[in-house]
Amino acid sequence: MIVAIGSDHGGFNLKEEIKKMLTQQNVEFRDFGTHSAEAIDYPEIASKIGQAVVSGECTRGIIICGTGIGVSIAANKIKGIRAALCHDEFSAQMSREHNDANILTMGERVIGAGLACMIVATWLKTDFAGGRHGRRVDKISQLEA
Ligand code: RB5
Repeated sequence: MIVAIGSDHGGFNLKEEIKKMLTQQNVEFRDFGTHSAEAIDYPEIASKIGQAVVSGECTRGIIICGTGIGVSIAANKIKGIRAALCHDEFSAQMSREHNDANILTMGERVIGAGLACMIVATWLKTDFAGGRHGRRVDKISQLEA
């Protein structure tokens, strides 16, 4: 498991907190920026993380912006990406079990670092359930054709 992580300026501080948590849990990650609180347009970061995941360079991605909304919308434009905006553990678990989400997005201006780290831990440890959910995810892929 290699996690691609990134944020815009609105998510920079939370990204740094999540990196600490990943390091503590021995989860390998690659940081695609941003590397400061200087303003950057969130589609640029969403594109980098999305490409890292669809290319196979990284297994899954985590993207943070102010709300988690902009990076989710942008990442979901990339073929093969299923980005889920989750601000609670139940949604994070379901996004993996039912939707096989390959990117998790969150908003630094919405939740605190403690909850965000719990969401990340749940999201990373949860496997896709397959079965009828596989059929449904296949139908999502067909929408991209
Ligand atoms: C940046 O101000 C903010 O718009 C961005 O971080 C994000 O919340 C967009 O969806």
